[in-house]
Amino acid sequence: MSQEFDVAVIGAGAAGMMCAAVAGQRGKRVVLIDHATRLAEKIRISGGGRCNFTNLDAGPSNYLSENPHFCRSALSRYTARDFIDLVKRHRIPFHEKHKGQLFCDDSAEDIIAMLKAECDAGKVAWRMPCKVEAIGKSGESYRVDTDAGEILAKSVVIASGGLSIPKIGATDFAYRIARQFDLKLIEPRPALVPLTFGASEWQPFVPLAGIALEVEIETGEKKSRGYFLEDLLFTHRGLSGPAVLQISSYWQPNTALTINLAPQENLTEALLQAKAGSKKNLANTLAQWLPARLADSWLQVQGMKGEARLADLPDKQLRQLGESLNRWRITPDGTEGYKKAEVTRGGIDTRELSQQTMMANKMPGLYFIGEAVDVTGWLGGYNFQWAWSSGVAAGQAV
Ligand code: FDA
Repeated sequence: MSQEFDVAVIGAGAAGMMCAAVAGQRGKRVVLIDHATRLAEKIRISGGGRCNFTNLDAGPSNYLSENPHFCRSALSRYTARDFIDLVKRHRIPFHEKHKGQLFCDDSAEDIIAMLKAECDAGKVAWRMPCKVEAIGKSGESYRVDTDAGEILAKSVVIASGGLSIPKIGATDFAYRIARQFDLKLIEPRPALVPLTFGASEWQPFVPLAGIALEVEIETGEKKSRGYFLEDLLFTHRGLSGPAVLQISSYWQPNTALTINLAPQENLTEALLQAKAGSKKNLANTLAQWLPARLADSWLQVQGMKGEARLADLPDKQLRQLGESLNRWRITPDGTEGYKKAEVTRGGIDTRELSQQTMMANKMPGLYFIGEAVDVTGWLGGYNFQWAWSSGVAAGQAV
């Protein structure tokens, strides 16, 4: 016996719950299906357990996509303010951390409970844990074969996310369904992920592990250029911290990053000025602008002696040193992969979807939302905002 619904949403994560709640509250009969045993695990672990649920400044320029304009419509019709109003209606305490990033005061569980309550208000039916075995057409409807029986629905919304963190249930389901219905994909890649370096290339920098500082970081050119002023963390294996997570989304294999380790200072000029009449040694001079441990280790990497008197060093050497710190160029050999990536960039090609409704142009009734789509936000609450906005767009259209 098949069960009939107006809408079947596959994936009860951020986007799927939002979409199901909106559609349910419009009076649609909605079923929400997820294969996981625990609800919305990614929301639970997000933002260090406090869920950075949106960003006050979220706008199209904070997203990467082959079509950077695609996200504009959904983001402008359901904004960060709209989500904040919802959070306030549920009396969830929150605060701004920095750069417009909003976090729960207590726990990400508050956001999960809120979305669950919104789904309940829309009388959403749950199938969880429940495996989807296949999706096919059945006349005007879609047939969803699950291990709990067959479901017939006029609309199917794919909200099964990207490939990041497979151990909590991420799958390539959305991409398989896209291929099945002949929809194009933009190659998925790990994003917001630490970058790695060849062991021998990284060897000289291993003593820097643990050092954190604000840097300017950039990569790419013209349209695909990424630039951030953020904190960088040296690790034993490579670079991490917000600066590197942000730039990783723009990084292309075999290309270099340019890092300014002292963004507030032109070190070439500063060193040459300091040289005049200075009795200081090189390490102490550099330590005015850089963490002392970084200054010491950097001089070793450059084969320079920290105790050398500044006045004794040729201008050329000081210029090279200044340049090496203000424009450090280094080429990663890869990323730490989906195991560590916060998100997946790429996904369903937005040219296949309506930007108003998220429906596939050539498959009426089939929708894709959230991280499955080729729209990837910066670090800082932007990815959840895309999940909410795209979820609402589809929830209002199904
Ligand atoms: P999401 O991954 O949330 O949900 C997909 C759902 O589909 C899951 O419940 C999964 O079980 C289910 N599913 C998958 N395959 C299925 C199948 N075959 N059958 C049935 N169900 C299936 N973003 C942000 O803005 N602020 C933050 O603080 C953070 N922090 C953060 C920390 C960490 C560690 C990670 C990994 C990620 C973040 N993110 C984030 C990113 C954010 O979590 C992510 O972008 C959204 O959860 C995406 O929402 P979706 O609903 O698209 O997918």
